Amino acid sequence: MVEGGGPVNAPDGQAASVDEVLELYRTCADDRYDEDVTQLDHALQTAAHARADGADDALVAAALLHDVGHLLDLAQHGRRSTSTQDLGHEGRGARYLAALFPPSVTGPIALHVRAKRYRCAVDPEYHDGLSDGSRSSLVLQGGPMAPDEAAQFAASPAAAAAVALRGWDDAGKVDGAEVPSLDDYRPLLESLALR
Ligand SMILES: [Fe+2]
Repeated sequence: MVEGGGPVNAPDGQAASVDEVLELYRTCADDRYDEDVTQLDHALQTAAHARADGADDALVAAALLHDVGHLLDLAQHGRRSTSTQDLGHEGRGARYLAALFPPSVTGPIALHVRAKRYRCAVDPEYHDGLSDGSRSSLVLQGGPMAPDEAAQFAASPAAAAAVALRGWDDAGKVDGAEVPSLDDYRPLLESLALR
Protein backbone atom coordinates (compact mmCIF):
# COMPACT_ATOMS: atom_id res chain seq x y z
CA MET A 1 0.00 0.00 0.00
CA VAL A 2 2.74 2.45 0.89
CA GLU A 3 5.75 2.21 -1.37
CA GLY A 4 8.83 0.79 0.28
CA GLY A 5 6.92 -1.01 3.01
CA GLY A 6 4.52 0.93 5.17
CA PRO A 7 1.78 0.11 7.62
CA VAL A 8 0.76 -3.10 5.84
CA ASN A 9 4.18 -4.65 6.42
CA ALA A 10 4.85 -2.98 9.74
CA PRO A 11 1.54 -2.66 11.56
CA ASP A 12 3.22 -1.64 14.77
CA GLY A 13 5.96 0.26 12.98
CA GLN A 14 6.31 4.00 12.96
CA ALA A 15 5.12 6.54 10.43
CA ALA A 16 7.93 7.60 8.11
CA SER A 17 6.44 10.82 6.75
CA VAL A 18 3.40 13.06 6.53
CA ASP A 19 2.94 11.73 2.99
CA GLU A 20 2.67 8.18 4.30
CA VAL A 21 0.03 9.18 6.85
CA LEU A 22 -2.01 11.10 4.28
CA GLU A 23 -1.78 8.16 1.88
CA LEU A 24 -3.12 5.86 4.58
CA TYR A 25 -6.16 8.13 4.93
CA ARG A 26 -6.67 8.30 1.19
CA THR A 27 -6.46 4.51 0.85
CA CYS A 28 -8.96 3.85 3.63
CA ALA A 29 -11.08 6.94 3.01
CA ASP A 30 -14.24 5.14 1.98
CA ASP A 31 -14.39 2.66 4.81
CA ARG A 32 -17.35 3.27 7.09
CA TYR A 33 -16.73 4.72 10.52
CA ASP A 34 -20.37 4.14 11.33
CA GLU A 35 -23.71 4.13 9.56
CA ASP A 36 -23.52 7.87 8.82
CA VAL A 37 -19.93 8.75 7.95
CA THR A 38 -16.73 7.30 6.50
CA GLN A 39 -13.40 7.15 8.33
CA LEU A 40 -12.27 10.20 6.37
CA ASP A 41 -15.48 12.15 7.05
CA HIS A 42 -15.06 11.45 10.75
CA ALA A 43 -11.41 12.53 10.83
CA LEU A 44 -12.10 15.74 8.91
CA GLN A 45 -15.14 16.63 11.00
CA THR A 46 -13.31 16.01 14.26
CA ALA A 47 -10.45 18.25 13.12
CA ALA A 48 -12.86 20.95 11.93
CA HIS A 49 -14.52 21.01 15.36
CA ALA A 50 -11.12 21.35 17.02
CA ARG A 51 -10.17 24.23 14.78
CA ALA A 52 -13.53 25.96 15.26
CA ASP A 53 -13.06 25.74 19.03
CA GLY A 54 -9.65 27.44 18.78
CA ALA A 55 -7.49 24.40 19.48
CA ASP A 56 -3.78 24.85 18.82
CA ASP A 57 -2.16 23.17 15.81
CA ALA A 58 -1.00 20.11 17.76
CA LEU A 59 -4.49 19.43 19.03
CA VAL A 60 -6.02 19.97 15.59
CA ALA A 61 -3.55 17.37 14.29
CA ALA A 62 -4.48 15.03 17.13
CA ALA A 63 -8.15 15.46 16.25
CA LEU A 64 -7.49 14.69 12.59
CA LEU A 65 -5.36 11.62 13.32
CA HIS A 66 -6.96 10.30 16.51
CA ASP A 67 -8.35 7.15 14.87
CA VAL A 68 -5.33 6.35 12.70
CA GLY A 69 -5.10 3.09 14.65
CA HIS A 70 -8.37 2.02 13.01
CA LEU A 71 -6.82 2.69 9.60
CA LEU A 72 -3.77 0.61 10.49
CA ASP A 73 -6.12 -2.23 11.43
CA LEU A 74 -7.84 -1.81 8.07
CA ALA A 75 -4.55 -1.78 6.19
CA GLN A 76 -3.34 -4.94 7.87
CA HIS A 77 -6.47 -6.95 8.54
CA GLY A 78 -9.03 -5.45 6.19
CA ARG A 79 -11.19 -4.57 9.15
CA ARG A 80 -11.13 -2.01 11.91
CA SER A 81 -11.75 -2.67 15.56
CA THR A 82 -15.47 -2.71 16.26
CA SER A 83 -17.80 -2.56 19.21
CA THR A 84 -17.41 -6.33 19.54
CA GLN A 85 -13.65 -6.44 19.05
CA ASP A 86 -11.58 -3.58 20.41
CA LEU A 87 -8.04 -3.86 19.07
CA GLY A 88 -6.63 -1.02 21.17
CA HIS A 89 -6.64 1.45 18.30
CA GLU A 90 -5.72 4.45 20.44
CA GLY A 91 -2.41 2.97 21.62
CA ARG A 92 -1.61 1.56 18.24
CA GLY A 93 -2.24 4.91 16.56
CA ALA A 94 -0.14 6.83 19.09
CA ARG A 95 2.77 4.38 18.72
CA TYR A 96 2.61 4.62 14.94
CA LEU A 97 2.80 8.43 15.06
CA ALA A 98 5.34 8.74 17.88
CA ALA A 99 8.44 9.13 15.71
CA LEU A 100 6.77 11.68 13.46
CA PHE A 101 4.89 13.96 15.87
CA PRO A 102 5.55 15.34 19.36
CA PRO A 103 3.71 14.18 22.52
CA SER A 104 1.37 17.17 22.21
CA VAL A 105 -0.11 15.31 19.21
CA THR A 106 0.25 11.68 20.31
CA GLY A 107 -0.67 12.16 24.00
CA PRO A 108 -4.32 13.10 23.45
CA ILE A 109 -4.62 10.34 20.83
CA ALA A 110 -3.35 7.74 23.30
CA LEU A 111 -5.82 8.96 25.91
CA HIS A 112 -8.96 9.57 23.86
CA VAL A 113 -10.59 6.26 24.80
CA ARG A 114 -9.70 6.73 28.47
CA ALA A 115 -11.19 10.24 28.18
CA LYS A 116 -14.49 8.65 27.20
CA ARG A 117 -14.33 6.31 30.19
CA TYR A 118 -13.49 9.33 32.37
CA ARG A 119 -16.33 11.47 31.08
CA CYS A 120 -18.80 8.61 31.53
CA ALA A 121 -17.65 8.33 35.14
CA VAL A 122 -18.05 12.01 36.00
CA ASP A 123 -20.99 12.96 33.77
CA PRO A 124 -23.93 10.52 33.42
CA GLU A 125 -25.54 12.79 30.80
CA TYR A 126 -22.47 12.38 28.64
CA HIS A 127 -22.90 8.60 28.74
CA ASP A 128 -26.55 8.89 27.79
CA GLY A 129 -25.65 11.05 24.79
CA LEU A 130 -23.13 8.63 23.27
CA SER A 131 -23.91 7.03 19.93
CA ASP A 132 -25.05 3.40 20.05
CA GLY A 133 -21.70 2.18 18.73
CA SER A 134 -19.74 4.26 21.19
CA ARG A 135 -21.85 3.03 24.08
CA SER A 136 -21.37 -0.63 23.19
CA SER A 137 -17.62 -0.20 22.64
CA LEU A 138 -17.41 1.38 26.09
CA VAL A 139 -18.09 -2.02 27.64
CA LEU A 140 -15.10 -3.59 25.88
CA GLN A 141 -12.98 -0.56 26.73
CA GLY A 142 -13.53 -1.14 30.44
CA GLY A 143 -16.69 0.85 31.16
CA PRO A 144 -16.78 4.10 33.16
CA MET A 145 -13.71 4.68 35.33
CA ALA A 146 -13.86 3.98 39.05
CA PRO A 147 -13.51 7.15 41.18
CA ASP A 148 -9.83 6.62 41.98
CA GLU A 149 -8.97 5.92 38.34
CA ALA A 150 -10.91 9.03 37.28
CA ALA A 151 -8.99 11.18 39.77
CA GLN A 152 -5.69 9.76 38.53
CA PHE A 153 -6.68 10.42 34.91
CA ALA A 154 -7.75 14.01 35.64
CA ALA A 155 -4.31 14.70 37.11
CA SER A 156 -2.42 13.53 34.02
CA PRO A 157 -0.86 16.28 31.84
CA ALA A 158 -2.75 15.44 28.64
CA ALA A 159 -6.13 14.87 30.32
CA ALA A 160 -7.71 18.22 29.41
CA ALA A 161 -6.63 17.93 25.77
CA ALA A 162 -7.88 14.35 25.59
CA VAL A 163 -11.26 15.30 27.04
CA ALA A 164 -11.57 18.15 24.54
CA LEU A 165 -10.63 15.78 21.72
CA ARG A 166 -13.28 13.39 22.93
CA GLY A 167 -15.97 16.04 22.56
CA TRP A 168 -14.94 16.80 18.98
CA ASP A 169 -14.74 13.07 18.27
CA ASP A 170 -18.32 12.60 19.47
CA ALA A 171 -19.52 15.55 17.35
CA GLY A 172 -17.74 14.44 14.17
CA LYS A 173 -20.29 11.93 12.96
CA VAL A 174 -22.73 14.00 10.90
CA ASP A 175 -23.79 12.82 7.46
CA GLY A 176 -23.03 15.41 4.79
CA ALA A 177 -21.21 18.00 6.93
CA GLU A 178 -19.13 20.43 4.84
CA VAL A 179 -15.57 20.59 6.14
CA PRO A 180 -12.05 21.37 4.85
CA SER A 181 -10.31 18.62 2.88
CA LEU A 182 -7.47 16.32 3.91
CA ASP A 183 -4.95 18.29 1.87
CA ASP A 184 -5.89 21.48 3.72
CA TYR A 185 -4.15 19.99 6.76
CA ARG A 186 -0.89 19.13 5.01
CA PRO A 187 0.91 22.41 5.94
CA LEU A 188 -0.18 22.07 9.56
CA LEU A 189 1.02 18.46 9.73
CA GLU A 190 4.31 19.30 8.06
CA SER A 191 4.92 22.17 10.47
CA LEU A 192 4.57 19.75 13.39
CA ALA A 193 6.46 16.81 11.87
CA LEU A 194 9.75 15.84 13.49
CA ARG A 195 11.10 14.32 10.25
FE1 LIG B 1 -13.16 8.96 16.62
